[in-house]
Amino acid sequence: MKVTIVGAGNVGASCAEYIAIKRIASEVVLLDIKEGFAEGKALDLTQTATTLGFNTKITGVTNDYSQTAGSDVVVITSGIPRKPGMTREELIGINAGIVKSVAESVLAHSPDTIIVVVSNPMDTMTYLALKATGLPKNRIIGMGGALDSSRFKTYLSKALDKPANDIQGMVIGGHGDTTMIPLTRLASYNGTPVSQHLSSSELEEVAAATMVGGATLTKLLGTSAWYAPGASVAYLVDSIVNDQKRMIPCSVLLEGEYGENDICIGVPCILGKNGVEEILDIHLDESEQEKFKKSAQAVRAMNDALASNL
Ligand code: LAC
Repeated sequence: MKVTIVGAGNVGASCAEYIAIKRIASEVVLLDIKEGFAEGKALDLTQTATTLGFNTKITGVTNDYSQTAGSDVVVITSGIPRKPGMTREELIGINAGIVKSVAESVLAHSPDTIIVVVSNPMDTMTYLALKATGLPKNRIIGMGGALDSSRFKTYLSKALDKPANDIQGMVIGGHGDTTMIPLTRLASYNGTPVSQHLSSSELEEVAAATMVGGATLTKLLGTSAWYAPGASVAYLVDSIVNDQKRMIPCSVLLEGEYGENDICIGVPCILGKNGVEEILDIHLDESEQEKFKKSAQAVRAMNDALASNL
């Protein structure tokens, strides 16, 4: 299986690293516009193969899309990341042009590929990629929910003082500081509702920390995060290329699910070799439904802002 990662920055390079270390694909192509940058990252990563024990072939290229031909999955991380104090939404104008041209270049060489969009504002960039390429909706997937859910579970684990891997939980809605919806009602610690272990104010604190999880890191690091985003992309890619059919919240086009239409936003999906193989229309209670509606309104406003930017 061949995976191309467009953008060899922090997120793209971490993703390549995890795909190789976890032996998710046999071939990874890293592509960047900066001369020699992807080549350098690929060479450095390749030199870890003997110590880390993987055989994934990692190639770096400068803007040469012919090398990406025949990719099963293409991950688009390109665009500028946010700086401290910026929202993901402020990146819209610059990143829209980049994502559109990258998606078109990728498809010229891998017409059957599945595209995973990471660039921010992610839900709008996913919608843009879908509209710009005209691909069927199962082949355009926005990565945000997997990352937000991993942050949610980490904060739950801290509040519970229990191992994160014993915790289940999911974040749906938009991938924005005010639009994501950590589903605290459904989160569990080894099958027991977290509400049996944490007070409602503790759960509210966890949800609030999750929602600004990316901003907290941007403030600490001076740029946006990469380990958890890279790992979350690798997790998605694994489910697709190895047909794992995992349930992962992703930003996908809704056509009536959750009462929404013509919008890409985070909902639980089954990911397999055909990309999005199913959207799970899980029951939300009234307050969750209300939050989802508000989240969709905010994402839709961003999509409209994009339309006036193009
Ligand atoms: C974050 C960026 C990748 O949430 O959106 O860290």
